[in-house]
Amino acid sequence: MKTNSELRAWCSNASGPLHFVPTMGSLHEGHAQLMHAARSADSASVLVSIFVNPLQFGPGEDFDRYPRSLNADLALAESCGVGAVWVPDVDALYPNGFRNVFRLQVPDALQRHLCGSQRPGHFDGVATVVSRLLALVQPDCLFLGEKDWQQLVILRSMVQSMGLPISVQAVPTVRESDGLAMSSRNRYLSRAERQRAVALPQLLSRMAAESVDAVRTDLGFAGFEVEYVERVDPVSLQPCGLDSAISLLAAAVRCGSTRLIDHVFLMSRKPLVAIDGPAGAGKSTVTRAFAERMGLIYLDTGAMYRSVTWLVQNRGVDPAEAAAIEPLLTDLDVQLCSLPGGEQQVLVNGEDVSKAIRSPDVTGCVSVVAAHRCVRQALTRQQKAMGQQGGLVAEGRDIGTAVFPDADLKVFLTASVAERARRRALDLQQRGFPVPDHQVLEKQIAERDHLDSTRVEAPLVQAEDAMQLVTDGMSIEAVIQALVEQFRMRVAEEAWPTPTG
Ligand code: PAF
Repeated sequence: MKTNSELRAWCSNASGPLHFVPTMGSLHEGHAQLMHAARSADSASVLVSIFVNPLQFGPGEDFDRYPRSLNADLALAESCGVGAVWVPDVDALYPNGFRNVFRLQVPDALQRHLCGSQRPGHFDGVATVVSRLLALVQPDCLFLGEKDWQQLVILRSMVQSMGLPISVQAVPTVRESDGLAMSSRNRYLSRAERQRAVALPQLLSRMAAESVDAVRTDLGFAGFEVEYVERVDPVSLQPCGLDSAISLLAAAVRCGSTRLIDHVFLMSRKPLVAIDGPAGAGKSTVTRAFAERMGLIYLDTGAMYRSVTWLVQNRGVDPAEAAAIEPLLTDLDVQLCSLPGGEQQVLVNGEDVSKAIRSPDVTGCVSVVAAHRCVRQALTRQQKAMGQQGGLVAEGRDIGTAVFPDADLKVFLTASVAERARRRALDLQQRGFPVPDHQVLEKQIAERDHLDSTRVEAPLVQAEDAMQLVTDGMSIEAVIQALVEQFRMRVAEEAWPTPTG
């Protein structure tokens, strides 16, 4: 399709969610993976656009000679099973001429480093064209490559700040068999340059733990003219040191006259996710499912506090008496394990208490027990030890503040009191416990909120850098999807691939 009216007609007839892959053509295996990812939902209609956008090329850059290969592109798109390819001309996208277009300006912080510092106006041009494309296509889902990480971060931020109801899905960099990242511009390389180019990914991964200066020097020795080598935080795109748990080491070089970019993610531990929020917000269900989907271990700290509460009651100790509880903590052994089928087993000193810790007796008392300093300290210590290597999603009341203040993603999951009372009633009913009147449940929940958020020891507070998710009216699947999306904004597929199967 060439014209906007053809596009409109196609979009209005498309069935299922509309998945959109914007490209500048000269398609290669990297684009093929984007198209496959866009097709992975059977019911989706997939649209690819091909438009070499003059606005994102600076003076003296390669706009005129950017490779164009429409017939081969259409054949590849067809073999990837896309529904349609839209190839607008400049007038279709910029009806008043591209010199008179309203341009978007990307916030300075997001383009101060990496390619933004080398290509003034480039990301403004990208944001402008993508906003135009999105306005015309109105997709449900936008597919972008992690290869251009800075572009991905900027476009996600644009979608979010414009409040567009579009989910952004990222696909990992695809590499040639020798490791060179696929790029349309690789076609410019002479045979000798192509051989030299492979040193870029090799040096970046080999020198990952070295100083940026050492990497720059070695890239120079390998025959590249270095534009930049920078280590940045993958979300804020601001320079960071090796002490950051996850950082991005990125470089742009000239190989002959061809500009190549590449990056590696450096990780001092596996990802850590903290999910806090009031009781009854549905945290356990979604956290467990999210952990499984992302290949992370689910750490249910609430079950640990319930376990201590159960032990306190079982030993006939007064739950309000810290001094009487303290001796129970000395050789307390709480084990959380996942059973096949997703059920969680909780063992306290070897005894299976999985069901007992969910009883209304324990529920009624856990706030009091969990408010003792000795209990918090003992369990926080255990949780920190469990999280040292990362690879966890921990759920509780103070994970993002007291337990894992350096978590890569912090979420404050909440819901209104009425909604939580409704969920609690359903849960009690399903577990075979008597269901109190709604008003009684609401009162209990409000009281528990008050206790949890006003207690002296580790009160329930939202970490400053947590994102709040209010789940009223959201299905469980929608909440899980929202968590996955937030996680992927911070942790690339390349750094922590989604497990398959
Ligand atoms: O990455 C690209 O191919 C381009 O920058 C994009 C996103 C299609 C905008 O022109």
